[in-house]
Amino acid sequence: MENSILLKKLKENAEEKIISFHMPGHKNGKVYNGYKDLYGFGKIGKLDVTEIKGTDNLHAPEGIIKEAQEKAASFFGADYTFFIVNGTSSANISALMSVANPNDQVIVPRDCHKSITNAMILGGLIPVYISPEIDPVRNISMGVKPKTIEEAILENPDIKAVVITYPNYYGICSDIEEISKIVHKYNKVLIVDEAHGSHFGLSDELPMSSIEAGADIVCQSIHKTLPSFTQSSMLHVKGDRINLERLKFMLTINQSSSPSYLLMTSLDIAREIAQNHGKRLMNDLLNNINYFSNEIRDINGIELLDVSVIGKYGVKNIDLTRVVINMTKLGLSGVQLEDLLRNEYNIQMEMSDTNHIVAIATIGNTRDDFESLLQALIDIKNKNGIIYNKMDSISFGYNIPKVRLSPRDAVFRNKKDILFENSVGKISGEYIVPYPPGIPMVCPGEEITKEIIEGVKSLRKNGINIIGMNDECFMKIKVIE
Ligand SMILES: Cc1ncc(COP(=O)(O)O)c(C=O)c1O
Repeated sequence: MENSILLKKLKENAEEKIISFHMPGHKNGKVYNGYKDLYGFGKIGKLDVTEIKGTDNLHAPEGIIKEAQEKAASFFGADYTFFIVNGTSSANISALMSVANPNDQVIVPRDCHKSITNAMILGGLIPVYISPEIDPVRNISMGVKPKTIEEAILENPDIKAVVITYPNYYGICSDIEEISKIVHKYNKVLIVDEAHGSHFGLSDELPMSSIEAGADIVCQSIHKTLPSFTQSSMLHVKGDRINLERLKFMLTINQSSSPSYLLMTSLDIAREIAQNHGKRLMNDLLNNINYFSNEIRDINGIELLDVSVIGKYGVKNIDLTRVVINMTKLGLSGVQLEDLLRNEYNIQMEMSDTNHIVAIATIGNTRDDFESLLQALIDIKNKNGIIYNKMDSISFGYNIPKVRLSPRDAVFRNKKDILFENSVGKISGEYIVPYPPGIPMVCPGEEITKEIIEGVKSLRKNGINIIGMNDECFMKIKVIE
């Protein structure tokens, strides 16, 4: 990784054996060295520096961070790239707060990540929710149709920006190029939450990257699909619709004033690997996935989400590296299948829902990984019918509840606990978010319905994790007084 300017500097620092009277408190890892079994922490600690002589400041970069960010911008096709140390969550919040003032409206898909709703709370923004298309059989959200966006802009001509999640958790991609044209036709800003799509530029077989499609701001969790450390992301800007000074200010508000050099360096290393070896590695990965998919496709009872969805439900393309498997025909819910794979075969999926398991495959996965997954699924299929029961069917709607208060007002109003069972018609003071995939059933400020209460019961019965409610037993909910 000789071209990673950040890694070079960290190595130089470590070799200089500087006597540290600065942060962090582990003193170049020395504290860790006094303890056994710290699994390399002492070594990692040597690289964990802060802003000292020779390093740079993420919030006002002039040296090595500036240079590393410029290399990233050039590789990803952006005009400016910002390294992010608080995840795409903080990038999304900063992006929105940079383009809209309190009480401004922004168009957001209902299946947006929680960080987008958090941006509404922090920035005092008003969401205009649009519905993604739903696949009624799979019961997952699919693409957002360009027509849906255009109608929402025409109905709310004062909106400041449109947010699109591209791709979604299942690798589903809307027609981002067409959406970009529409948003710009009305002189609005397009922010793309590309948390799951940093790898798109590595192959022509993958969907177009949203920077290429003309988006103004793109937030990518490099840590999800390229090889960087957890929490490290990038925010890219293209074109002249964004006020860079304001964006930089929002990034300082939403990020740590002690940015981790380990995270920033891992971003630089990920860019290096992607730039120098990414196309070859991605080609290998796609070959392995192709092999796996061909083998699976012939097995009765195991289904893959594949290119056949393109052209339906607002889907323009799919991310082939997202392996979405359904074995409900064999009586196995996604949650059960995920548990089986982990408990009996030592294979960990990214997530499961009632019907599917979702694997994130990256250039780090080998042919052996796919062989193991294939053999495990065949084994599970062969045992099925002997040891597994049919799953209960589950009904859960993705209807957008009535918005009675802005997210910000709802968060700061007084609340009281009432029985969840008796909360129909009340304004929720809490989120209710099945996670994964993280689509809110209710956000603060929205009206609770009977469908929501039944939906929560049904999801819990099927083992889906629900976050947001304070009461872990789901008996009580906070509502606005
Ligand atoms: C669509 C989407 N956006 C944003 C995020 C937040 O990204 P990060 O974990 O990098 O903060 C996630 C996390 O899962 C996500 O799925």
